Amino acid sequence: MSVETLTLDLAKIRADFPGLAGGWHYLDSGATAQKPQSVIEATVNAMGRDYATVHRGVYARSANMTLAYEEARRKVAGFIGGQEGEIVFTRGATEAINLVAQSWGGAHLKAGDRILISTLEHHSNIVPWQLLRDRVGIEIDVCPLTADGRIDLDAAERMLTPAHKLVALAHVSNVLGSVLDVERAVALAHGVGAKILIDGCQAVPRIPVNVAALGVDFYAFSAHKLYGPTGIGALWARAEILDAMPPWQGGGSMIDRVTFEKTTWAPAPTRFEAGTPAIIEAIGFAAAVDYVQGIGLDAIHAHECGLVKTLRGALSAMNDVTVFGPEDSAGIVSFAIDGVHPHDLGTILDEGNVAIRAGHHCAQPLMDHLGVPATARASFGLYSDESDIAALIAGIERTKRIFG
Ligand SMILES: Cc1ncc(COP(=O)(O)O)c(C=O)c1O
Repeated sequence: MSVETLTLDLAKIRADFPGLAGGWHYLDSGATAQKPQSVIEATVNAMGRDYATVHRGVYARSANMTLAYEEARRKVAGFIGGQEGEIVFTRGATEAINLVAQSWGGAHLKAGDRILISTLEHHSNIVPWQLLRDRVGIEIDVCPLTADGRIDLDAAERMLTPAHKLVALAHVSNVLGSVLDVERAVALAHGVGAKILIDGCQAVPRIPVNVAALGVDFYAFSAHKLYGPTGIGALWARAEILDAMPPWQGGGSMIDRVTFEKTTWAPAPTRFEAGTPAIIEAIGFAAAVDYVQGIGLDAIHAHECGLVKTLRGALSAMNDVTVFGPEDSAGIVSFAIDGVHPHDLGTILDEGNVAIRAGHHCAQPLMDHLGVPATARASFGLYSDESDIAALIAGIERTKRIFG
């Protein structure tokens, strides 16, 4: 693909995002992305003009809504190279991982089984496994990082044994931006007979993902980081794995037949969607997929890589700034300024209309590893541009002057 094809029309793109109006430099897309007008309109129409329940109505509006909801599932599946029957709509990546831990883990893991996670995981890929550990007695091993902040797959290779039943790793670190070599991780996990779950929360908005080509078993992500609504995400799991998983929540919709003596379950994925689903959000999710596909993830990735290079270069030129993570981070740059707490930096930057994230980023074990209580994090979206970086750098210079 030529460089021209990969260049984004930023003026046009930025005009699609009402949340960016007013000269605001939004550098917190890793926390949640702004929404394009098409997503806003899709959700407004789903909540207004087209609103009805799904899966039960005998009237046309409900039948149409059911079609739209299932079309959303098809789109989300296609977006990551999966089949529609393999997508469970969840509240987000957090719920998707909890679903796997409670349903698959509860049914398939027993005391003494081991799972492997890594030092850089988000709390949502740590705590669900600890809850499972407390319930069934599994052991959790933690794969270390390389010096530049990648998951050290050489170490993983040495650590993995046939006792490992699951490997659960982030595709892209929400703090360091480091990109996992998923294909190698899959080969290592499968080599010892373990399944592999990938937390794709930060990957799906930034790099093209094809779960079938990658060969993963579970893939979790959230719509709101992909320019879609909050309150919805997806668990993708290979059909034969999903089919063999028991339900994890009971209620309406997830059943086949209920009597007081015995209840039988609906097939997957419906079996995992108890209650009235997030109908409006699913339709917004599909609109977000359309929007991102319309621009193209190759182009988005190339654009964000360029921004990362510029920002890392500018920060590295300052001798009182530590930049974390590898050079080829995907869309995310974490850093620390000597003598300035990230919260103070974040507050001063806000006065200059620059929004960054400051804190532990729901990755406290990674902060412990880095030896800092918090970092400042700039994370890009497809709408970010050089003016955002310039405003950030100006704000950093100002902060340093204030702190003497
Ligand atoms: C890498 C990663 N995993 C999981 C999550 C959790 O996502 P959510 O809060 O949307 O469930 C996040 C959100 O910050 C994340 O960055």
